[in-house]
Amino acid sequence: MDIFQKCYEFTDAKKVMAAGIYPYFHELTSGQDNEVIINGKRTIMIGSNNYLGLTSDQRVKQASIKAVEKYGSGCSGSRFLNGTLDLHVELEKELASFLNKEDCITFSTGFQANLGLISAIAGRNDYIISDRGNHASIVDGCRLSFAKMIKYNHNDMKDLERALKAVPDNCGKLIVSDGVFSMEGDICKLPEMVKLAEKYGARIMIDDAHGVGVMGKHGRGTAEYFNLEDKVDLTLGTFSKSLASLGGFVVGSADVIHYIRHLSRPFIFSASITPSNAAAALESLRILKQEPDRIKRLWEKGLMI
Ligand SMILES: Cc1ncc(COP(=O)(O)O)c(C=O)c1O
Repeated sequence: MDIFQKCYEFTDAKKVMAAGIYPYFHELTSGQDNEVIINGKRTIMIGSNNYLGLTSDQRVKQASIKAVEKYGSGCSGSRFLNGTLDLHVELEKELASFLNKEDCITFSTGFQANLGLISAIAGRNDYIISDRGNHASIVDGCRLSFAKMIKYNHNDMKDLERALKAVPDNCGKLIVSDGVFSMEGDICKLPEMVKLAEKYGARIMIDDAHGVGVMGKHGRGTAEYFNLEDKVDLTLGTFSKSLASLGGFVVGSADVIHYIRHLSRPFIFSASITPSNAAAALESLRILKQEPDRIKRLWEKGLMI
């Protein structure tokens, strides 16, 4: 059997292409902004995660350009060895402080952050309790770990309790959920989740890719929105949405982040964030802190939820 046979038989996308209604991989010939150019036409962009409009901000662009001038175009190696810049450390310190956690680790994408965090933290004797609506990178992070995964129905706290009850005694338990769900757009029921985590001795990890920069008065995300920042053990975020760049991060307690830094294979065996991306994320974060009105305007325009 030819391993490529399935490729020859995969005709679904080709049929849609032939019908002229293929919705993917459109080429943009402009920057990522409120309006973009597609096929030479000015087009309103409503499918982007550029929540705060910072991808075209002059300060962010200039920070990126300056970083290329100072550090060059890439880091040519892993954070673990030659690839740690003072810029990465500065970014991590500012993120930890912004999100009121002890420490932070950055990854080259948000997807990689989920792979790297979950596979490092959840071992053979552990259970991951995961919402069925969670992002693909969470699902793949669970697959990469040696832990057992129990799924619960989307945002159904009764079913979460059923899942928690099913975990044998003396096993580590990590509840994992998107903060704002990437497909449905709804918000996880964090207050109930916290109560259940306390009742069953589980830890909580929130993937707030769509929450940071959007949720809460200061944009600190879903936990700030619910006033439960001290109850979430690990928060994951990405630079590819509100923070107008590319990369991902995790904040948490110093010991846990230290452990991930030394045991996470997707972190250790992959090149670090490019200087331009790190600088753009740092500048965006600073703008977010200085201009919280951006969040207010976003909500006033009713673009969210
Ligand atoms: C909830 C969630 N987590 C993680 C990611 C991955 O982030 P990135 O695009 O930075 O790899 C996404 C991206 O869409 C997401 O929606």
